[in-house]
Amino acid sequence: MKVETLRWFNNRLEMVDQRILPAAFEYLSYYTAASVAEGIRSMVVRGAPAIGVAAAYGVALEALRLQDKLAVEFKDGMEAGFTVLAASRPTAVNLFWALQRMRRVWESVAEQAPQQIAQRLLAEAHEILAEDIRINKAMGAHGAVLLKDGARVLTHCNAGALATAGWGTALGVFRSAVEAGKKISVIADETRPFLQGARLTAWEMVQENIPVTLITDNMAGYMMAQGEVDAVVVGTDRVAANGDVANKIGTYMVAVLAKRHNIAFYVACPLSTIDLNIATGKDIPIEERSIEEVKGFRDYHWAAEGVKIRNPSFDVTPAELVTGLITERGVVLSPDAQSIRKLMMGRVV
Ligand code: MRU
Repeated sequence: MKVETLRWFNNRLEMVDQRILPAAFEYLSYYTAASVAEGIRSMVVRGAPAIGVAAAYGVALEALRLQDKLAVEFKDGMEAGFTVLAASRPTAVNLFWALQRMRRVWESVAEQAPQQIAQRLLAEAHEILAEDIRINKAMGAHGAVLLKDGARVLTHCNAGALATAGWGTALGVFRSAVEAGKKISVIADETRPFLQGARLTAWEMVQENIPVTLITDNMAGYMMAQGEVDAVVVGTDRVAANGDVANKIGTYMVAVLAKRHNIAFYVACPLSTIDLNIATGKDIPIEERSIEEVKGFRDYHWAAEGVKIRNPSFDVTPAELVTGLITERGVVLSPDAQSIRKLMMGRVV
């Protein structure tokens, strides 16, 4: 089964409700920028590239909704749509990348009638979705080469089809390796507190008969010490200009462990996730989510009542712990400011 995480259907955006997976597989419909922003905030859709695609459709939906208004009302309404989408989640730069791309398209046709602008923005959202799948396949091809036949590969969170428009970034590397005939197996960290590993990565791999073993996050060190992990591949939400990588909370811990055990630590990273405006990982905004997520899961709470709780949702892995960035342009080994600049200019070093 090929998952369509987001799809344009009957003049509306539909997104798989990832909060209820794997117990149920259901699409929710979206007609406005504000509702898409709420879908992003509440994690109906999540994962950096998927958030970017959703935001692009959010802009297009808003333009379609406002297309019969006077030009000035259209403009004001569109600005409000951009604002609400930009405020939905802070860490994944793909959100801001997609909004900027949609704004440029809007500016390029701003003189046209709102109906024409809306059609142009919708076409761009479709293109961003299609492009994301192409990019993931290219990354997959580059990354698959790095995995030897029989490799046991650990991943954290979900950087799969569900986190993108399709195929996935880290899980795309696994899919491409399998497609190339390699017999790999995946170790999925459960990924507390939202359980993207247990609920989403494990589900995706099981659907496609890619061998997968689920572990709790605190088992990764043991597995590595036992010699049961050959490589780590994760996704990312934002890479700073010096190669520091923000990804799901717990990734830093995995990277430190990988270094300790001399295991390659790769980050699958589309160019849209690299933020040259941020010099180092220290400046990447880290989302703090509701403490309810740490208290327990859904309605069941196990934490002691009254205890102080923190819930930072991402952490930063310093570039020195990254063996390589897997991008659509190729693999950048030991990424640093210079190699990232060259990569963005079109060269892989
Ligand atoms: O909070 P989430 O589920 O949106 O976090 C997702 C991740 O951290 C992913 O690893 C990252 O976005 C890369 S997805 C290709």
